[in-house]
Amino acid sequence: MSSSQTSKGTAVITGASSGIGAVYAQRLAERGYDLLLVARDTDRLEALAAKLSTEWGISSEVLTADLTNQQDLARVEQRLSQDTAISLLLNNAGVAIGGEFLDSDIDYVQRMIALNVTAPTRLAYAAGNAFKSRRAGTLISVASVLSLVHERFNGAYNSTKSFVLTLTRSLEVSLQPHGVRVQAVLPGVTRTEIFDRAGDSLDNIPAHMIMEVHDLVDAALAGLDIGESVTIPSLEKVANWQAYDEARAALLPDLSLSQPASRYR
Ligand SMILES: NC(=O)c1ccc[n+]([C@@H]2O[C@H](COP(=O)([O-])OP(=O)(O)OC[C@H]3O[C@@H](n4cnc5c(N)ncnc54)[C@H](OP(=O)(O)O)[C@@H]3O)[C@@H](O)[C@H]2O)c1
Repeated sequence: MSSSQTSKGTAVITGASSGIGAVYAQRLAERGYDLLLVARDTDRLEALAAKLSTEWGISSEVLTADLTNQQDLARVEQRLSQDTAISLLLNNAGVAIGGEFLDSDIDYVQRMIALNVTAPTRLAYAAGNAFKSRRAGTLISVASVLSLVHERFNGAYNSTKSFVLTLTRSLEVSLQPHGVRVQAVLPGVTRTEIFDRAGDSLDNIPAHMIMEVHDLVDAALAGLDIGESVTIPSLEKVANWQAYDEARAALLPDLSLSQPASRYR
């Protein structure tokens, strides 16, 4: 088989060695993108790159990087800034943590923030400026539905994803006028290795709440295709999201005024 279309440029995918990132790599190869696959596990990345190059006639390259390491992260940023063939960044690499924040290993939480927050911030900065100057490109960030959840699960993990959602939406405002597409993807529970890696399990989660990873990525790409800037793959009642977002926007005129509200006087 070969890709049905001519190359659409290079898609940079962080966390491409497993789960959501690996399926995006497959789907973007099918769509005719060349690939630059980023993660720590070189063997898995090389096996995927070879498979997709053979199957789809695209070129794929591996960039081994621990995105919590400053030098490794800088190499990816530099590539995003300098390689004009890059047309898409998928900010996807991430880790989770179970339990409650106050019971967490705080050093692990700090490493999670480095991966889930610092790395996508620096990569979005590099790619965003490069895409803006070329007036083209697509920036996709994998956040989580937990970005919207304040009262359950690990507050530090949820917060990393709230950060990604806010940054991505602000980037949409900055980049959309320059012809750059920006999308935040908010997966719910998706069957990947992330739970094992966090010492957690999917066994205690009802089956009707778990999405298969191919379904998740296909829905996210369908959301991109129809022009969504925020995609919540399992959400049937999209009007509820719109109402939530409108209620948030309705707060804005009253959030900073010279006088305290009357209940405080
Ligand atoms: N699965 C879910 O239920 C779910 C729900 C909402 C959001 N998400 C988000 O989806 C994204 C992808 O997760 P996933 O579910 O596909 O999990 P996954 O299968 O565990 O994949 C995580 C990816 O991140 C990479 N990674 C981990 N630490 C890294 C580091 N220090 N430097 C570079 N790469 C690193 C891993 O590769 P290496 O080990 O090779 O480095 C792997 O490719 C994450 O941002 C996660 O928060 C997942």
